[in-house]
Order: sequence, then C-alpha cells, then structure tokens
Amino acid sequence: MCGIFAYLNYRVPRTRKEIFETLVKGLQRLEYRGYDSAGVAVDGPMKKCGDINSNTIFLVKKKGKVKALDEELYKKDSLDLDEKLYTHFGIAHTRWATHGEPSPVNSHPQRSDKDNEFVVIHNGIITNYKELKKYLINKGYEFESETDTEVIPKLIKYLYDNRESNSVSFSTLVERVIKQLEGAFALVFKSRHFPGEAVATRRGSPLVIGVRSEHELSTEHIPVQYNSGHYKDGVQELNSHNRPDCSNSISSVGDGRAVEYYFASDASAIIEHTNKVLYMEDDDIAVVTEGKLSILRMSRQVGDDPVRAIQTLQMEMQQIMKGNFDAFMQKEIFEQPESVFNTMRGRICFDTNTVILGGLKDHLKEIKRCRRLIMIGCGTSFHAAVATRQILEELTELPVMVELASDFLDRNTPVFRDDVCFFISQSGETADTLMALRYCKDRGALTVGITNTVGSSICRNTDCGVHINAGPEIGVASTKAYTSQFVSLTMFGLMMSEDRLSLQNRRLEIINGLKVLPELIKKVLSLNEKIKAIAEELFEQRSLLVMGRGFNYATCLEGALKIKEITYMHSEGILAGELKHGPLALVDKQMPVIMIIMRDACYVKCQNALQQVTARSGRPIILCCQDDPEVTKNAYKTIELPQTVDCLQGILSVIPLQLLSFHLAVLRGYDVDFPRNLAKSVTVE
Ligand code: F6R
Repeated sequence: MCGIFAYLNYRVPRTRKEIFETLVKGLQRLEYRGYDSAGVAVDGPMKKCGDINSNTIFLVKKKGKVKALDEELYKKDSLDLDEKLYTHFGIAHTRWATHGEPSPVNSHPQRSDKDNEFVVIHNGIITNYKELKKYLINKGYEFESETDTEVIPKLIKYLYDNRESNSVSFSTLVERVIKQLEGAFALVFKSRHFPGEAVATRRGSPLVIGVRSEHELSTEHIPVQYNSGHYKDGVQELNSHNRPDCSNSISSVGDGRAVEYYFASDASAIIEHTNKVLYMEDDDIAVVTEGKLSILRMSRQVGDDPVRAIQTLQMEMQQIMKGNFDAFMQKEIFEQPESVFNTMRGRICFDTNTVILGGLKDHLKEIKRCRRLIMIGCGTSFHAAVATRQILEELTELPVMVELASDFLDRNTPVFRDDVCFFISQSGETADTLMALRYCKDRGALTVGITNTVGSSICRNTDCGVHINAGPEIGVASTKAYTSQFVSLTMFGLMMSEDRLSLQNRRLEIINGLKVLPELIKKVLSLNEKIKAIAEELFEQRSLLVMGRGFNYATCLEGALKIKEITYMHSEGILAGELKHGPLALVDKQMPVIMIIMRDACYVKCQNALQQVTARSGRPIILCCQDDPEVTKNAYKTIELPQTVDCLQGILSVIPLQLLSFHLAVLRGYDVDFPRNLAKSVTVE
C-alpha cells in the first residue's frame, strides 16, 4: 500500500544522477506495494534572491510504474546531472491509489504550496482528513489534489507560518502535525526551510531506517528522547533536555562524519546499501540534523522500550533479485523446495521426532491450558489457517476457529483471556490483521505471530511467534509464504502433541512426510510443462471452478484466489460437498472445472462429486494421486501428484494451481508481478 523511500547523504559527495539512481532503485524494490504512480522530491538548483542564494525543491511525478518516472527524471534539462551534492536529502514514493485516481497531481510527494516549502511522502490513510482540510481551507490554504495526504504538508506549513518563534525546529513542527492526525501513516518530510534535514515518523504503517558509514558506528542503540509533556497554548513543546534514564549514553547515530541514511517501507529496499537498520515504533519521530540521527517521542508510557537498537539484517541481496526467472512469482513458486526446508531447518529433529519452535516454547504450557485457538488472517494467509485447521484440531485436541480479520472485527467477536490468538501474515503489516491483534490484546488473550517479515509490526506486537523463514516474497500473489505458513502451523501442532501417547503414530507419519516434502515439491514442479499445456487450452475462458473437500478445500480457495488475482478470470473455490446445494448449476460442457481428488478420507465423496460433474457433461481436469485408474478414467485431463500424508497433501496440490495461474496470466498478456488494483502489503483497512 504505497512504498516510501528516502535517501540522505551527509558529507558524502554524490552526483544528482547517483541520487536519482538511488531513489529510483529504492522505489523499484518497493514497487510491489503499489504501482499506480510514482514521484520524487530533490533539491533544485540554487535560486538567486537578491544577494542571497536560496534553496528550492524540485518535484517530479508521473502516472504509471517507476520506470515511467525514471524516464521523466532525465528529461529535466534544468537539473545538471553531474552536479555534486555533498549533503542532500531526497524523498520518493510509489503509490497504490486510495483517495483520488492515479495521476501526477494525486501522486506523492504532496506539497504545501506552489513553492514546495514542505513536501511529504505518506503510506497509510488519514481518516480525519476531511475535518483538517475544511479547517485549512477556512484559513485560506488551497488544495490541488484529491488525496487525504495533502492535508499534511498544508498543516505543517500552517504551523510553520504561525510558529511562536524562529527557533521552532522541524521535528517540533512534525510532532505538532501528528498530534492532529488520525489513521495510519508512515511519513517522511522534507523542507526548504530546513535544508539537509530529514524528519520521519510512523503510526500503524511500517518504516525502517538504514545507516551506512565508512566509520565504525559510535553506538549500537540510541536512547529515545522524550518530551517534557507540558502544554503551551494547546501545543505541546519539545524539550530536548528531558532525556530518558540512559542520559549519559550517546543520544544519536552519526558523529558529524560522513554518513548516509535510507528510510524505507521495508528493508528489501535498503539491503543493497547497508545491513544496519533501525525499526521505528509507532509515534517515534526520527530526525537527522547535521548528519546525526535521533529518535524523539512525545511521552513515555509504562513498558515502552527506551532505546532503539541498530540491528544487522540477515537478508541476502540475491534473495530479492529475479535471477533467471521472468517474474518474481515464478521464482518464488520454484523456490518452494528450499523455502519449506528453511521453515523446518533447525526446528525438527528427525532422529528423535521432536519439534521445537524457539519462539513458542516458553509459552507452550499456557497454550496447552487455553480454551481455544483462534487463527486470524486475510487472503492467502487466511487460507493457510483453513488448510491446517483440521490437523490442529486433531493434534491439539482443542477447538480451532479460523477467522478473516476484517469479519472478525466487524462481528466484535467475543475473545477471552484464556484464548490463544494466532495472527498469520506474510508481510506482518496487514492493517486488518494488525487491528485484530490489538483487539485480542486488549481482551487479554495470548497473541502469537506467524510472519515472514522479521521486525514487522505483527512480529513486534505479539507475545510470541514463529518466523516462517520463507525469504523475501516480492511477487504480489503469495505463493511460497503460503506453503511455509502451512508447514509452520503443522509444526506447531506437532509440538503441542509431543506428550500425547495416542498421537505418536500420527506424529511420526507427519514428521516423515515433512522430511521428504522438499523432494516431493520438486517432483510437482517438474510437471510445469504439462501445466503450461493445460493453460494454453484454458487461457481464453472467462471462468474456472476449483472443487475439492477435506484437507484440500483450502487448496480450492487458494487456487481460485491465485487465478482471479493475476489472470482476472472469474474463479471460485468450491467445497465439493456443497456442489449439489447450488454451484452444480454452473456446470456444463463449456465450464472448465478443476477437481482435487486425493486418496484420503474424502476420496469416495469426491468421486461422487466427480460423477455429478460428468453427468452434466462437465469435462473435469483432475488433480489426483499417481496411479489412480479409477479417477483418471472419468477425467478430461489429469495432473498426477505424488502422494503424501493426507494433512500435507494440500502443500503439493496447491503448486499446480500456482503454476496454472502463472501461465494463464502470461498467456493472457498480463504483468504477473503487478496485478491491477492490488498491492503486496495492505496497510489500510
Ligand atoms: C494473495 C495475497 C493476499 C495476501 C493478503 C494478506 O496472493 O497475497 O491475499 O495474502 O493481503 O497479506 P499478509 O499475508 O501480508 O497479511
């Protein structure tokens, strides 16, 4: 939901061209978050005002993907690309439109006025923007865009114009702005009045800061500087003398020597520059002045961490490159033998048949005593909950609820102190899931995160959790995260049942299944050409139904979601048991139907559904186990998969549908990694 990137070089000579390249590359890494339009703000050429040189801010914005912005940047003759800028701050944004259509004027950076006194990039939604806009219009400010964001630069200019003295700092102005904002935001501000200074803040949307320096960093963490908390004329004053407990330690990063800072919505945009990062907390204000980075907050709450650690990222550059693949989604589908292996690595001991999830082990007793497990997520992450619900019920012997985060909140679902709530999210930033997390925390439940993004909001705000370790997922359509979420939740079930004698045979069967899973996934991936040939037959169709039941019902939901989101075909995942209650009316000889019929407890029931389809002249494409003549004789086409334990079969059966959706989208001429109207990380409600 919009990507933010900003770059500050302090005493590091960079040409304008190099600065543009850094900003554009940063945006390209974040493009999966939105690609309706993009823009940058950089310092313009010095302007002569009488005898004084005054700085200007130069804005370039373009509808479409970052590539279009990149081309536009080099058309600006007024900027000398070889000019060396020793200290400079540039901000950049790629947009997923929420308020106002994709257009240059609605793109970010948004500005305070025609002279670009203040410019801002924003990820999130300001829910009280209408009230603020009305107030500012009454004060004589003119608006040019339809965005919610535009109130922010206008508001900071209003506060600047009405400041009580010339000594009011940039960060104080930003602090005053965010006190007025409701909703979710990550913001980076740049101003003509504060050249070379950067101010960034967040509430509900992610923001990470990378630090690069040739010199050893003087500190590994910085203490947060708190405000005194007194009010003057309704406006809270920042008192930089009021320091936290660790007042004798160094309060900023950077010591006046050359340093570079990168601000980004996610660390994948930073890793090529530095692996030293600092994750901002809600309501932190990060300020860079004279090359020094400090973190300020309005007030200190009980339980607040008074320091922000500089962490070392473990991510490798090649993990976020496409390699030999045409699309990230394709690469991520083919990575699944390694990604599921990495999910299990160091956690399952195949000699002793034990599973240890380090992030949960201290809470295991509490979890075992709980009233029920509630698994909450959105989209694909929700499907991972559906896929593992049955095996978790079996292994934990607890009631398991699966919930779509938005619906869970709409219903004000009762949650109790003795509930354990799982929040499943690839990005760890999905707004609905995050709100459900806050809701459950407020009600005293134990909260568990199942995420792929270390340092994400869900990671940081849950009591405990599991990193699925699938590696960065860039393609908007989630693939490897799903199979790793599936494996993580299954491992949780195994850990919970270790002391249950009656379940030992079942556990052993599953652990053995997990051991060979990467090899079986490779076998499924080798069916790629066959699946492509099926896609060549189907790509001109308008609709596609996917049917199955039991352990494979989630595969139907997930397969249909993959197909609709990247091919724009209508697709429905249908529980085969429900076929005769309505969906059968859709079946005729034209309607393509994919059926999943595996040798498990639902085998006979699925065959009944197959009879119902063939009796209506339907021509089913069947995903089944190898060597199953009974099923293949009634199939129009078959995709034969290796058989595994029933509760893991869904990991193998989803892969042909991931591949099918990929090939259908390519054949239909669509950009697989950037499906229209979607974004990878949905940080708005
Ligand atoms: C579908 C897809 C989405 C996400 C959903 C939740 O391919 O990617 O449905 O699964 O937006 O996102 P996370 O898992 O980041 O919370």
